[in-house]
Amino acid sequence: MEKTIEYIKSKIGDFNPEIGIVLGSGLGELADEYCEIKIPFKDIPNFPESTVKGHSGNLVFSKVNGKNVVMMQGRFHFYEGHPMSVVTYPIKVMKKLGIETVILTNAAGGVNPYFKPSSLMIIKDHINFMGTNPLIGPNDDSLGDRFPDMSEVYTKELRELAHECGKKLNIPLEEGVYIALTGPTYETPAEVNMVRTLGADAVGMSTVPEAIVARWMGLKTIGISCICNSAAGISTVGLSHKEVLENAEKAKVYFKKLVLELIKNI
Ligand code: HPA
Repeated sequence: MEKTIEYIKSKIGDFNPEIGIVLGSGLGELADEYCEIKIPFKDIPNFPESTVKGHSGNLVFSKVNGKNVVMMQGRFHFYEGHPMSVVTYPIKVMKKLGIETVILTNAAGGVNPYFKPSSLMIIKDHINFMGTNPLIGPNDDSLGDRFPDMSEVYTKELRELAHECGKKLNIPLEEGVYIALTGPTYETPAEVNMVRTLGADAVGMSTVPEAIVARWMGLKTIGISCICNSAAGISTVGLSHKEVLENAEKAKVYFKKLVLELIKNI
């Protein structure tokens, strides 16, 4: 961690990020538009390279709407074969760099039959269905408690702020429960049925490990899902990563506006 931080600091000088953002599949454009300092993941000591199409793999620093922001353009997924310690490493790095708030975004499948593709969902709560937990192992007491409270992973105040921003910008926002499965397969219709029964509104392969670690470290956290497709069985057609990226593309304009307004008001 010391090496990672030392390297990043050598690139950013006295830039002190206040807000961290993880940009999900197809949502990385914000980091192209606001980019004062760009550090490719591959240059950062102890950062692995991102391997997924639609995830560029840069750490980007910029002033955005008056706030100092650090953006993860791309993230590390469990399904890539990274251990949870690697999946959540960037969140720890951003915390060490001084952020107080983190905005986690992702592309997800809509399990709630009322959700339309390309809509946005504020994550109210999550279900960790990845079969593991990023906090398994010795606890670093300097970062958080051994048994952290998860009754409000996604900060209520930030969720309310997001809804205010949505109203102001005329962007309809859903709110619901996100369930994380490991992937990389999309779900079967029977699995979608199961997660619906469990109370999920959206299903995806990321965010939950990062949110757990963020909450554990006391970061204010908000999650936004781009509902890129109806999950398997909800719609009559099959799924493809191409469709997911195409629908993320359609939602991108709203998504960017919402995130920018949120940053302005945090
Ligand atoms: N399932 C899981 N992850 C996803 C989906 C989905 O349908 N769409 C985008 N990410």
